[in-house]
Amino acid sequence: MSIKILTQNFISHAPEFYSDLELNDLDSKHAVIVKDAYDFLDDEGTYKANNFRNWTTQTDQGAPMQMSAFNIYTHGFPYTFLKFLFVKVFRRDTERHLLNSFMDDISIIKSIGGESILKENPVHTSPGATEAYFIEGTSVNLRWLRYIYITQQIINHNLLSDTGVWVDVGSYYGGYQSIVRKYFPKTTIVMVDFHHQLCRSYIFLSKIYQDAEHILPDQLSNYKSLESMPKGSFVYVPVSDYYKIANQKVDLVTNFFSLGEMRREFHSVYMHSTLFKESKKVYLINRFIGSPFFEKTFDTDITIIDYMSNKQKIDYFDIFPMSHYILVKRELFGRIASRNLSSSYFEIMTSSQ
Ligand SMILES: C[S@@+](CC[C@H](N)C(=O)[O-])C[C@H]1O[C@@H](n2cnc3c(N)ncnc32)[C@H](O)[C@@H]1O
Repeated sequence: MSIKILTQNFISHAPEFYSDLELNDLDSKHAVIVKDAYDFLDDEGTYKANNFRNWTTQTDQGAPMQMSAFNIYTHGFPYTFLKFLFVKVFRRDTERHLLNSFMDDISIIKSIGGESILKENPVHTSPGATEAYFIEGTSVNLRWLRYIYITQQIINHNLLSDTGVWVDVGSYYGGYQSIVRKYFPKTTIVMVDFHHQLCRSYIFLSKIYQDAEHILPDQLSNYKSLESMPKGSFVYVPVSDYYKIANQKVDLVTNFFSLGEMRREFHSVYMHSTLFKESKKVYLINRFIGSPFFEKTFDTDITIIDYMSNKQKIDYFDIFPMSHYILVKRELFGRIASRNLSSSYFEIMTSSQ
């Protein structure tokens, strides 16, 4: 099915599709993203940018530049060649840092046993991929490396059973879901996000899993609970409908790179819900400090301390290692330099007592 038909199908099953701008307490980054996302839909309700996954406000976060057949096919020869030259001449340092980070990430993934998942899921074959770096018989980009690592962690730490229910808050275009589903085909996969993101996930996952059951926002009320939904289905829960599932307990709840960007009001809605407090397992990756005093990265005062309120037993706690050593060129106090991120990310897995 085309992106246009899938988009229209999603919108026709999401009565509140255009209402996300009315949500209270949105942080400033996401208020802009949600507004831009609506601007990207044309009057017929389809994505103008012709790419539901990489767009001006959110991307796959890049990959080192290569003169690959994939790049030439995707971006055309002139663009690929000129960009390659530009990067080689003017962005040597940035490129070297990025490549180092990729090499570290790949070694870390291998060290936790993730080599086969890495090889079995080349990013360039996934729908809408425009950024891919070919290496060691597979292809990756910065965001995809996280997805591979996290899938392997879910397996290594037995976070999901074969027929479990997994709820991910802040699921973006469904990248994790596409990989995890391959290894847990009977898991019920629930995504909570803004409508425009759920629509992206619906397009992405429908293209990969054409025969799967997709439960869209207006179909949620046909089921008594998440547990009673068909095994192996994908379930799309808009942020404004979170209250419909907040009091349930499931096998696994996750949030990656998202709670630490939210305002306290939204953070509390999730962290204080039964779902986060009483589900069997909770797996979070977020920043130690959302907005350090010397570089106010996000519009929030959330820190690591705020994640401890769910009172679960801590099974695992460490630094999230993907992109940990990356250096990003940016301005701070008027000086441009390559710097590490303003805050590292922690990785925590907890279970109900
Ligand atoms: C930085 S992205 C991370 C996406 C994805 N988890 C990943 O790791 O690639 C943050 C995600 O959280 C979502 N998000 C932001 N505020 C949210 C909120 N209040 N409720 C649910 N999702 C939210 C965004 O739409 C986006 O999909």
